[in-house]
Amino acid sequence: MTLKGYHGRVLHYLDENTPCYFDDGILVVDTESGTVQACGKADEMLQQFKGLDITSYQNSLIMPGLIDTHIHYPQVDVIASYGTQLLDWLNNYTFPTELAFANPEVAEETAEFFLNELLKNGTTTALVFGTVHKGSVDAFFNASEKRNTRMICGKVMMDRNAPEDLCDTVESSVADTQALIDSWHGKGRQLYAITPRFAITSTPEQLAAAGKLLADNPGVYMQTHLAENKDEVAFVQELFPQSKSYLDVYDQYGLLGERSIFAHCIYLEDDDYRRMNESGSKISFCPTSNLFIGSGLFKLDDQPAAVEVSVATDVGGGTSFSMLQTMNEAYKVCQLRGSNLSAQRAFYMMTLGNAKALSLDDKIGNFEAGKEADFVVFDLAGTDLMKRRQSICKDIDETLFSLMILGDDRAVSETFVAGQQVWSKQQDKSKLAGAH
Ligand code: GUN
Ligand code: ZN
Repeated sequence: MTLKGYHGRVLHYLDENTPCYFDDGILVVDTESGTVQACGKADEMLQQFKGLDITSYQNSLIMPGLIDTHIHYPQVDVIASYGTQLLDWLNNYTFPTELAFANPEVAEETAEFFLNELLKNGTTTALVFGTVHKGSVDAFFNASEKRNTRMICGKVMMDRNAPEDLCDTVESSVADTQALIDSWHGKGRQLYAITPRFAITSTPEQLAAAGKLLADNPGVYMQTHLAENKDEVAFVQELFPQSKSYLDVYDQYGLLGERSIFAHCIYLEDDDYRRMNESGSKISFCPTSNLFIGSGLFKLDDQPAAVEVSVATDVGGGTSFSMLQTMNEAYKVCQLRGSNLSAQRAFYMMTLGNAKALSLDDKIGNFEAGKEADFVVFDLAGTDLMKRRQSICKDIDETLFSLMILGDDRAVSETFVAGQQVWSKQQDKSKLAGAH
């Protein structure tokens, strides 16, 4: 066992209402197993672990790695595409970009860039869409395996209402999905999600096949989109006239459940909330995307029946890889709907809350002994403005709030995955300085 201590302010959550904060704390990591050994007050940790090799951080906050429950890796180059709402945005920007992933080199290069960008933003786990191409998911998992990140990804299943070269068939989508599950699900830290894009781009036969894959492969996830945009909801009603609601389409094909994560859910029927709650299905709230594509304002605090809500960037409909920026926009969505999103709740959601939504809270999300040691070191003085604002913060709540409103990748100084450093702002700066 090789122990290392990380010393500074330390914050994690034992549950939604139980923050565990040490103004002067130490996180003790076993770098061989890549797990958390202990976490507590600095003097107590120093007593307990005599001669511990310590790294100290000034003006910093050490927290569990951030988790993003909905993001598209092939959409890195779709970010910041002008002037459209969902269905035109897909046809004009997204589908043309995803066509390029037939080329494995494009997939490899983009997966590398994407994972570096996540780690630079302090995100260590994500639930990720590939494209329709099987190779896009192999490329993604290869890149993730190299970094030892815990990632969930899936090949998009899509057999209608998209360019021909971007469509699979019921048979090929089942064969490719099963082959990817067999290769990757549970290999190291990699996990698989069955990924029908949304009801518009799958035939009833393909949705039924997705439901069968989910039933046949216990432990795999299901990810899709649901009720994001009014025109989308109307089109689904046309395509599935017998269905009671958009959610009901997925329900009929056996796609609801504890490991099913539905992005957006802005326009659900009242009964849908009850059905989602009853089935244990989860929502991904994607505020930067919902604002940027003009989809609508998500109901975080005024749902007819409480459904477990996680938070996500939805890059490239979303405009930032930063979960801090995502919570900044989530705060504003709540403001417009008449509620206040507290910083403590936001940081809980980005860590343990999202881990719970992904049924991964036995492995990640906080610093309980034995958890995988994925963590981020925030630089509270990451910009001149942050430094100035932080200097007048009176307590941890104010510190967290200004971090989530003003922070982005500049507020992340180091990121660790399974106890190993995978990102350092300082080293990146010196690398850049060396290049000039
Ligand atoms: N609905 C179907 N596909 C997509 C996608 O790629 N992004 C978003 N935001 N919504 C979708
Ligand atoms: Zn999406």
